[in-house]
Amino acid sequence: MKIQKHNDTVRHAFTLQADRYAANPLMTNAERLDRLVGAVNPAKEHRVLDVATGPGFVAEAFLSICRIVVGVDITRAPLEITKKRLSIHGPSNLNFQLSDVSRLPFAGDEFDIVVSRLAIHHMELPGQVLEEMARVCRANGIVAVEDIIVSEHSRRANFQNRFEKLRDPSHTKAQPLSHLLRTFAHVGLEVENVIIGFLLQDMETWLANAHTPAARASKARALIERDANEDLSGTQPFRDGNNRLQFRQRTAIVVGRKLG
Ligand SMILES: C[S@@+](CC[C@H](N)C(=O)[O-])C[C@H]1O[C@@H](n2cnc3c(N)ncnc32)[C@H](O)[C@@H]1O
Repeated sequence: MKIQKHNDTVRHAFTLQADRYAANPLMTNAERLDRLVGAVNPAKEHRVLDVATGPGFVAEAFLSICRIVVGVDITRAPLEITKKRLSIHGPSNLNFQLSDVSRLPFAGDEFDIVVSRLAIHHMELPGQVLEEMARVCRANGIVAVEDIIVSEHSRRANFQNRFEKLRDPSHTKAQPLSHLLRTFAHVGLEVENVIIGFLLQDMETWLANAHTPAARASKARALIERDANEDLSGTQPFRDGNNRLQFRQRTAIVVGRKLG
């Protein structure tokens, strides 16, 4: 019941955000996509699954190298944007499916590479999603997650998660890197590569992209202002030359190999 309710929140959020998300230069950035593809190091013959694909940028980046790519997402609007952008009208070596990724609609060992970007922090059951990603990956295949990570200090982690959730209620919880690594081990993945980075967010653009209602936006602004003065989360907010508040969402790419 709780999951169904959360899934409705996700669908609502990503239907509302679909157009702005698909046009967001942080999400379309080719260098960032190349970094993820490079970390996975795919081969031409590989079958790839992109979990919570949204408007399909990661799926498209893998398709430039790999034979078959499938994208799965629970929200119809971003999938429709992708199909239009890529002119997919019938069967193709890039396919999309509408599904909840906490139960992936695939048999075990079906993919060589299973990847997910910036989505695990929207999941009610992130451990179950990682388990599903590992299940559909073949032995010695690769599971890779890129996501927002928060501080290893729980008070600082909670502070960031608070303002993230005010901005977008579909945000459940971004995790510290150590939790993500533990989950990888727990579901039978050997971590082979970790790349730390960040997304530099302009606070007002970040709020506008999520269509955050005014009352919640002003609470989020107040928390980020406090963070700028008191160093409360590790996102290091600062005012740029135009007096606009900027902050850093730290990210990690974690690449694991499925143990046989
Ligand atoms: C921030 S977007 C990331 C999209 C894409 N991976 C990217 O990097 O551009 C998060 C996506 O996760 C999807 N999502 C969240 N929970 C999901 C679930 N349980 N099953 C499938 N998709 C889900 C949302 O619909 C949304 O498209």
